[in-house]
Amino acid sequence: MKDFEKDYPDYTEAMGYEHGDEPPCNLSANRNFYEVMEARVARRGFLMGGLASIATGLIGGGLSGKAALASSTSPLIGFAPVPVSFEDKVVLPEGYTFQVLGAAGAPISGDMPAFRSGANSGDEQEHQVGQHHDGMHFFPIDGSSEDGLLVVNHEYIEPRFLHAEKPGYKGQPIGDSDVVYDADGKRDDDEVRMEIAAHGVSVYRTAKQADGSWAIVADPRNRRITANTPMEIAGPVRGSAHVRTKYSPDGTNTRGTVNNCAHGYTPWNTYLAAEENWAGYFANTTQLDQKPDLPREHARYGVSTNPQGGRYGWHLAKSGADEFVRWDATTRGASATEDYRNEPNSYGWMVEIDPFNPDAAPVKRTHLGRFAHEGVVFAPAVEGAPVVCYSGDDSRFEYIYKFVSDAPYVAGETDGSILDSGTLYVARFNDDGAGEWLALTPGRNGLTPANGFADLADILVNTRLAADHVGATKMDRPEWGTIDPRTGDVYFALTNNSRRTQAQVDAVNPRAENNFGQIVRWNYEGNDHTRSSFGWDLFVIAGTGRSSVAPAGGSLNDDNIFACPDGLWCDENGRLWIQTDMGDIGPDYSGPLKDFGMNGMLIADVETGEIKRFLTGPWGQETTGVVSTPDGRTLFVNFQHPGAHASPEDFAAGNFGSGFPDYDGATVPRSATIVITKADGGMVGS
Ligand code: FEO
Ligand code: CA
Ligand code: CA
Ligand code: CA
Repeated sequence: MKDFEKDYPDYTEAMGYEHGDEPPCNLSANRNFYEVMEARVARRGFLMGGLASIATGLIGGGLSGKAALASSTSPLIGFAPVPVSFEDKVVLPEGYTFQVLGAAGAPISGDMPAFRSGANSGDEQEHQVGQHHDGMHFFPIDGSSEDGLLVVNHEYIEPRFLHAEKPGYKGQPIGDSDVVYDADGKRDDDEVRMEIAAHGVSVYRTAKQADGSWAIVADPRNRRITANTPMEIAGPVRGSAHVRTKYSPDGTNTRGTVNNCAHGYTPWNTYLAAEENWAGYFANTTQLDQKPDLPREHARYGVSTNPQGGRYGWHLAKSGADEFVRWDATTRGASATEDYRNEPNSYGWMVEIDPFNPDAAPVKRTHLGRFAHEGVVFAPAVEGAPVVCYSGDDSRFEYIYKFVSDAPYVAGETDGSILDSGTLYVARFNDDGAGEWLALTPGRNGLTPANGFADLADILVNTRLAADHVGATKMDRPEWGTIDPRTGDVYFALTNNSRRTQAQVDAVNPRAENNFGQIVRWNYEGNDHTRSSFGWDLFVIAGTGRSSVAPAGGSLNDDNIFACPDGLWCDENGRLWIQTDMGDIGPDYSGPLKDFGMNGMLIADVETGEIKRFLTGPWGQETTGVVSTPDGRTLFVNFQHPGAHASPEDFAAGNFGSGFPDYDGATVPRSATIVITKADGGMVGS
């Protein structure tokens, strides 16, 4: 079998729809990896000693210099850690408070339509905050730490909570990913319109009020970008045959963005939204000899062959309007410009948004590659040097990528077009602690027409296949990356991979049946991110006390055990914020992840290696999205999918799983941002 077939043996299981957005952790116990872990910790000396120590053969030389991390009480993270929690609430260290901001359905634009629990319409949702908040960035207005534009991704939706009061949903046993079809197998147009509008990105102004609270502020820059917003295609794929459709016969435009998981922000002050598990939104029922006949650029990504497929059945909206049928990628017309066979090829990209220009169409930057982008992180910009960014492909056994621009960065002049010309690389992590970047460029590393790669556009549309071809390292689901702005060290979360076998274990993915995940770190000689070789180590191997390795060696303990790292953000002081996504964990959960309680967030001091649990969240949610104001005194954090663990029977009975954030016994649970401050006005986390 090809890898993707192992990953996607079945549509439903493949996308984890029965549990939410992603495959949950598989929870069997792990043993027999202590030896491997010890070796990874011993290797730390290589990384921090730089590449020179690799060259001089200091393997096994142990910890030295900066590598001698010591457990101590770090002044950087001076708070008392919170315990593992099983409560349906937000728990913060003593001395911290929070408020809710921008919950799903909160009005931000137009005539500011009010949130009505489970009863809003599609046109209202187009002016309200979307559902299932994820990556997020705060763009200060004039440098302010009290006034800015908050940009929030909405990864996916839970239709039962959007439509909870509507016929077909209210009082019915509806699962967390279910939608309701009419007797004729079609879907209600307005429900589909609302679901399309609950996806995408929200941009809204928020400011600190006289009483110290933060509020949404009406502003001409407030806008919703949805799964139906017109967008430009830029970079090498623009205008190619791969993206010509009925909507855009010249292959320069498309509509919408979906499954916007994490994000990035550029040195020129724009936002990038990632398209992660986009493949499941499309159906392609094209057949040959009564068997599915998908082009490789659909098959390698898991586009559904099920006639009822398409994650929410949007292509089955009753009216058959163009904005709905475009989710059907089946070959139906005489040519590609008469149907939407190529529509999935306009997805899988990073989408650039200028939050300060509401009239600017979002732009799909195709040179950053096409895969299940978790997010993107930029190396600190260096005047006169290329722009460098990294992006992980979050699926089992997929890869980590780097883009290096052709043009140099020039402050005040550089804009997003710098991302349209450069080199895309994929990572190989060697077992000796060194690594290399393999170029995905026509004619290099075997990417030739003879091997099936016609040109650069073809390579980019088929990024995963190109990466397969050059021999990249298959990772344990790369999630967020972040870069320590002081040192340039890059951190990436590898969340879990329950399907890795003992035979597939390697140095950077050291556990079979990896249920708990790890965080990898790398750096470069001279802190030069354009180099093709790097040194790496594992910063932490997550798990229980018995199954983990802490940054300073030894095990994690009650103050910091965690599993399934996902969101990562290193602030300018060297605090590494770690967010967890163990799936839709609720109070009745009893599997092997039970020791970790609800999803939450920890902070590591990357210098000392100390980690403390800072926050735990309500039932059912994952904690994802974190950013502070420039002064570090206000922190924004998202909770996604509270209540997602509620069974269909619970939903029918009006038990929505979690009360967050309204806790009134009637309102549906809602994803939301929380705003955290320290009572003494100090930096959050200090
Ligand atoms: Fe959407 Fe990979 O988390
Ligand atoms: Ca998730
Ligand atoms: Ca994520
Ligand atoms: Ca995740």
